[in-house]
Amino acid sequence: MKQDYSEYLMDPSHLENEESEWARQGFYVKNAEAVKEFMELRGLEKVLEIGCGSGWVAKMLAPFEFFYVGVDKNPNCISLAKGKVANSFFNFENLDVRSIPFFFQQFSGFDVVCSFAFLKHFSLDEWDNILKILLWQGKYAIFAVAIAEHDLDDGTDFPHTSVTLEHLGRAVAVAGHKILKTEHQSDSATGYEMLVWTERV
Ligand SMILES: C[S@@+](CC[C@H](N)C(=O)[O-])C[C@H]1O[C@@H](n2cnc3c(N)ncnc32)[C@H](O)[C@@H]1O
Repeated sequence: MKQDYSEYLMDPSHLENEESEWARQGFYVKNAEAVKEFMELRGLEKVLEIGCGSGWVAKMLAPFEFFYVGVDKNPNCISLAKGKVANSFFNFENLDVRSIPFFFQQFSGFDVVCSFAFLKHFSLDEWDNILKILLWQGKYAIFAVAIAEHDLDDGTDFPHTSVTLEHLGRAVAVAGHKILKTEHQSDSATGYEMLVWTERV
């Protein structure tokens, strides 16, 4: 049975490697720009990031007038994220995505929910449900998905799940959203990731 990627990161040396890798690859710059551009174009303010890691996207968004909540299961990621961002409208919560439906009941919802390099770390059994939890939090969503032309399983002890476009379309519809646009990210970690923009219907 594969473990959560978050548990893999509990080992400080794994987290340290990932932290420098995330920074080096700089995917977060494009991802944060996609969020910023989308929100500014529509005059949106409230954004939730699920699986925020150590706060690279938050750091990029922090100079702008957004209200941001970042969620990650790994407490060490949350500490690193808090250390990167000093904006009082930016908050980080140490939460498992699976408990989000209970935790965010007090909020009236977010304008945008975003998530990067996250969905691929859930097994196919859970994938649709995790996407549903994600999409339920926002009027709009921007997230990365690994598309299943290739088996991404690299033998590590956490999942690397990809889905077909048909699967993605079905799962988005079941979660009550529609796809606005997609963009292939040929330079993503796997090379098979797509950025997806959706809207609640
Ligand atoms: C590959 S990292 C991506 C981090 C960041 N989104 C980025 O693009 O750099 C995946 C993140 O998801 C978090 N994560 C994994 N399983 C989770 C879960 N069940 N609930 C919340 N966060 C989780 C991990 O702790 C990790 O920080």
